[in-house]
Amino acid sequence: MAENQHRAVLQSDTPPTEEQKRRLAAFIRRNYSIEIPIEWEDTPDLKGGFRLHVDQDVYDWSLEGRMRQFHERMAQIAPGPKNVLPLLRDTMEKFYPGVVREERGEVLTVGDGIARIKGLPDAEYGEILEFDQGVRGMVQDLREDSLGCVLFGENNVRAGDVARCTGRTAGMPVGIGFLGRVVDALGTPIDGKGAIAHDGFRPIEIPAPGILERQSVDKPLETGILCIDSMFPIGQGQRELIIGDRQTGKTAIAIDTILNQKDRKVICIYVAIGQKSSSVAQLAANLEKHGAMDYTIIIHASASAPAAEQYIAPYAGTALAEHFMYMGRNVLIVYDDLSKHAIAYRTLSLLLERSPGREAFPGDVFYLHSRLLERSAHLCDELGGGSLTALPIIETQSGDVSAYIPTNVISITDGQIYLESGLFFSGQRPAVNVGLSVSRVGGDAQTQAMKRSSGSLRLDLAQYREMEVFTQFASDLDETTKRQLIYGQGLMQLLRQDQYEPMTRHRQVCLLTAALAHTIEIIPIENIKSYRKELLDAMERENGDVCRRIDRNGKLTDEDKERLLKTAKYFASEYLKRLERLNPGVERRSGDDRRAGQDRRANPDGQPPEGQKDMRSGQDRRAGDDRRKNKSGVAKADIKSGGNQTSGGDA
Ligand SMILES: Nc1ncnc2c1ncn2[C@@H]1O[C@H](COP(=O)(O)OP(=O)(O)O)[C@@H](O)[C@H]1O
Ligand SMILES: [Mg+2]
Repeated sequence: MAENQHRAVLQSDTPPTEEQKRRLAAFIRRNYSIEIPIEWEDTPDLKGGFRLHVDQDVYDWSLEGRMRQFHERMAQIAPGPKNVLPLLRDTMEKFYPGVVREERGEVLTVGDGIARIKGLPDAEYGEILEFDQGVRGMVQDLREDSLGCVLFGENNVRAGDVARCTGRTAGMPVGIGFLGRVVDALGTPIDGKGAIAHDGFRPIEIPAPGILERQSVDKPLETGILCIDSMFPIGQGQRELIIGDRQTGKTAIAIDTILNQKDRKVICIYVAIGQKSSSVAQLAANLEKHGAMDYTIIIHASASAPAAEQYIAPYAGTALAEHFMYMGRNVLIVYDDLSKHAIAYRTLSLLLERSPGREAFPGDVFYLHSRLLERSAHLCDELGGGSLTALPIIETQSGDVSAYIPTNVISITDGQIYLESGLFFSGQRPAVNVGLSVSRVGGDAQTQAMKRSSGSLRLDLAQYREMEVFTQFASDLDETTKRQLIYGQGLMQLLRQDQYEPMTRHRQVCLLTAALAHTIEIIPIENIKSYRKELLDAMERENGDVCRRIDRNGKLTDEDKERLLKTAKYFASEYLKRLERLNPGVERRSGDDRRAGQDRRANPDGQPPEGQKDMRSGQDRRAGDDRRKNKSGVAKADIKSGGNQTSGGDA
């Protein structure tokens, strides 16, 4: 008989009257379609209130229960810029506690931030549970007789405690007030700058925008890093993976990209997962120093935070980002890094006793990252046209990109920037491996000026890399190969870029135009860095209007290109002349000796221009060293023999 399995218990400090019992029975009949006697349990601490248990459900009319309802109502008041007092008064006057049904479960065991709970048959995956003292947790494991729940924050949940369903999934407070702040994975500020006024909550996990809600990626998200913007351009709404071993400059690329968004109205969110608090503090200080914190939010789930917080941090960051995206803003989000995120998830899963799969990760680890990265989008104009660009970071072990998590994330993203320890330690920074990096969608988003000026760069570098090995075989290189090596070396040198120095669009275009027209070939390798700076200054001085046009509309006309080339050619020979005057030991790298000699004769004397004097003192002393250094590369040594004749004759 079904009725026998049901039970109704009334808890109160005084026994119910017959009339009350009759009405409660009617209530149960109405809601459950069952007829059962009501048992009374004397509960002296429920002063003036009562609690009706019908099986798992509890109808709470105790003082405590009503206070909790009131508390929840108050928490929903979103503090805005307006005066909050009238809002409070209004809420208080209108508040009337309802008879709410709630499910209660009992904590069976707790350990390692995981609670196992009996009861709560209606709890859903991802739902937030509330424990005594306001501790919260998220349902992560559903079984027939119990459920597993991860706990957030410091907590003292014990076996036997009560857990309640809240009917809500995990949410993140969102709002413009978060800009410039450092918060934890639950949105609580940790930078000591006080509470953050939020504009509401967003669920941390929602389905990604569908096809019809998107439009194609057609605007560039410029990183300010020459080798990325020219060869692996990133578009707004794209997901570009940054992958490499530890200490190869992955974070540096993300941070430079954030710095470059200054004055571009892009909101940046940096999600630090499993990093030391000291490094994140350092990073925040750096962003602050470069004036980037005004438009940046840092979400920090430190290495010492519970695995549950590290696990939800990127989703929380994405919720915050989506808030801005749906306001029509362009947002950049960096997940640094998803390897640690996967490890946090593995820890959780193993604690929840899910069966381990490859590399002990649970079977759904691919879904972990795909549902996160699918949320990057360029929204259609009807939805405001905002965008969310993601730069996930993956740390590999000794360059092994074929491990489980790297291959997963490579296949989810729209391209990767592959950083290599070898290049990094040889001084080629950013250490981008041109052969293995790719951007699958950004090309369409590149500006015309950049597309035009970067033309054959990638191909040229690929050719250079192929021939690079030949530098080991001494003199028997033909003239073409020699030239190509010189040209390639110059390009590689040109792509070196210091940290915290993102380059503007017109500077990138000017440099590429000059370099790909082979004008820098004649400059000695060691001088390329200083030459680059002077060339750019000259370009801006001579062609200011062209530079402004490139910055404004991203176009490079034939006429403008001609002007840039003219300046580049003229300046290259001028620079070399100056260098030779200051430093007779310097030779051209180009094999064209005849022209070198003529150039020098054409300009027999002349004072070094202002600002060059400091260069002289340093370089005069180093002249001899340069000679020796040049011999290290065969190509250089070979050219040297040719160059020696002319310089010898002149000296
Ligand atoms: N382009 C660069 N030029 C000079 N130093 C760099 C450059 N990029 C990174 N570095 C330095 O290299 C170190 C490692 O960089 P980081 O971005 O922290 O590596 P990762 O995130 O890959 O571990 C840092 O000390 C950083 O300052
Ligand atoms: Mg890093």
